[in-house]
Amino acid sequence: ANLTHHPHRDFLRCLSLRIENSCTITYTHNNPSYPSVLNASIQNTRFSTPTTPKPYAIITPRKTSDVQSTIFCSKNHGFQLRIRSGGHDVEGVSYVSQVPFVVLDLVNFRDVKVDTKNEVAWVQSGATTGELYYGIAAKTQTLGFPAGICHTIGIGGHLSGGGFGILGRKYGLAADHIIDAKMVDANGRVLHRKSMGEDLFWAIRGGGGNTFGVVLAWKIKLVPVPPVVTVFTVNKNLEQNATKIFHRWQQIAHKLPNDLFTTVWVMKVNSSQVGKKTVEASFKGLFLGRIDELIPLIQYAFPELGLARENCTQMSWVQSVLYFGALPIEPVEILLNRSALPRLSLKAKTDYIREPMSEAGFEGFMNMFLEEGTDLAITMMEAFGGKMDEIRENEIPFPHRSGILFESVYIVQWINEEDAGLCINWMRRLYNYMSSYASKSLREAYYNYKDLDLGINNVNGYTSYEQASVWGLKYFKNNFKRLVRVKTMIDPTNFFSNEQSIPPLLSP
Ligand code: FDA
Repeated sequence: ANLTHHPHRDFLRCLSLRIENSCTITYTHNNPSYPSVLNASIQNTRFSTPTTPKPYAIITPRKTSDVQSTIFCSKNHGFQLRIRSGGHDVEGVSYVSQVPFVVLDLVNFRDVKVDTKNEVAWVQSGATTGELYYGIAAKTQTLGFPAGICHTIGIGGHLSGGGFGILGRKYGLAADHIIDAKMVDANGRVLHRKSMGEDLFWAIRGGGGNTFGVVLAWKIKLVPVPPVVTVFTVNKNLEQNATKIFHRWQQIAHKLPNDLFTTVWVMKVNSSQVGKKTVEASFKGLFLGRIDELIPLIQYAFPELGLARENCTQMSWVQSVLYFGALPIEPVEILLNRSALPRLSLKAKTDYIREPMSEAGFEGFMNMFLEEGTDLAITMMEAFGGKMDEIRENEIPFPHRSGILFESVYIVQWINEEDAGLCINWMRRLYNYMSSYASKSLREAYYNYKDLDLGINNVNGYTSYEQASVWGLKYFKNNFKRLVRVKTMIDPTNFFSNEQSIPPLLSP
C-alpha cells in the first residue's frame, strides 16, 4: 500500500509523466547538488540552519509548461508550493515552510530584453535588479528603471511587493512601471494583462508574491535619466551634531526637487576622531544633474549639511546604483554577480513617518545604536515626497504615498547563531521606541520587508479576514479588502499561500 500511495514518490512520478527529462530540473535530498541549489540564493542565513525546514524538492523550470506541470503535481500530491526568484525574502518564505512543500526556483527564467526605441523592457522574474540595470545600461545611458538599491534582489519578489529605490522620488516604485505581465495561475492557465483582467493585474503589482500565481515575466516602462548624475555622502556622528542635522533633514528632504533623492543611514562606528564607538548618520544623495547645480541647491535648502564639492562625484546612473550598494563603481559587470554581497543572518522591520520627530526623539533613536547587539545594525531612512506624493493610494496595492516624510527600514544582522536572541530583541525594542513617532492610527509597514511579528496566517487550515487584516491593513491599508476579493476570485482554494499571503474568503 505504501508503494502505491507514497505522496512524495507520486509527486516525482507525476512530474516525470508531464515533463520530459524532469530529473534534470528536479533536485531532491538524494541529489548531490541539492544543498548548493537550495543555498544559491538564500540571502538571510538565519533560514539556512540545520533545523530550518527544507523543501522535499526544488524544481528549476526551463519552460512555461514546466511551471504548469509543477503546479499541477504539487496540487495533486499535497505539497505546498513556494516560489523563489532572487531569494531575498527577509523572512525566508520563498524557501521555508512549516508544512510539506516544494520550491519552484525561477533561476532559469532570467532573460532581459530591452527595447530602447519604445522605452520598454520584458524582464523575467528570475533576473536580478542588477541584471536588469546592466541590460539597460548596455544599450543606453539615458534610460533607467526605478527599483531597489541592492543589485542581487530578484525581479519576481521585488516587483510583486512594490520596489523603492534611488529614483523613487522622481518616478515612484518599480511596480508603478509595470505595463504587462505573464503569469500562471493555480489552474495552470497562462495569463497576460488582457486575459487576466484589470483586477488581477492591479493585485500582482505590489499585492505580494506567492499569493495570486507564478509571475514569469514583466513588461516594464523605462524612465529617462541624464547621462551624468551626481552622488554624495556626508557623515556626521553624535559628536558632530548628527541629531540636529538629522532633525532638520526630515523637515526638508521630502520637499526638495524631485531630481534630488536623499537618504540617511544610521549605524554604530568606531571613530578614531572621537576615540570610541559612536553612532554615525550618513547622509547620502542622488541628484539627476551635475555638481554645479547640486551644490547651490543644497546650500540654499539644507545649509546645515555643509555639503562640499569633495563629498560629490559625477557618474552614470548605472554606476550610482553600485555607489548606493556600497560597491566599487567599476567595472559595472559586478551587477551580474549574484554573490557579490556578504550573506548574514538578519531581522528587518519598517515604518512610515508622517509627523516630524523631535530632536530628542532622534537622539534617543541614535543612542539605541550604542547598546549591545548593534554591531551590524543599520537603519535606512529614505525621503519620500515628490512623485510618491502624487500617486493615489489605491493606484496599485502599495498604499504608502501622500504625506509620508520618510520610510524607515530597520535591519539588524549577526554572524553567530547564538547572537540571534540579543539582536532580535534589540530590534523589537527599537521598533517599540519608534511607536511614538511612526504613523499613528495604523502603523504602516512595507510588504517587501516582511515582518512576521505583525501576525501570520494559520499554518494549517483557514485564516479569517479578521485575523489576516491585523497585518494586512498595515501593509496595504484599504487596498487589503480589494486584494482579498481578487484572491477569492483567482485562487479560492488558497493553493498559493504563505505566512503572510492574502487569504481568500470562505465560499458560502
Ligand atoms: P524571493 O525570491 O525570496 O521572493 C520574495 C517573495 O515573493 C516570496 O513570497 C516569494 O514566494 C514571492 N515570489 C518570488 N518570485 C515570485 C514570482 N515570480 N511570482 C510570484 N511570487 C514570487 N526592497 C526595496 O523596495 N528596495 C530596496 O532597496 C531593497 N533592498 C534590499 C536589500 C536586501 C539585502 C534585501 C535582503 C532586501 C531588499 N529589499 C529591498 C526587499 C526586497 O525587495 C524583497 O525582499 C523582495 O521580495 C525580494 O525579491 P526576491 O525575488 O529576491 O525574493
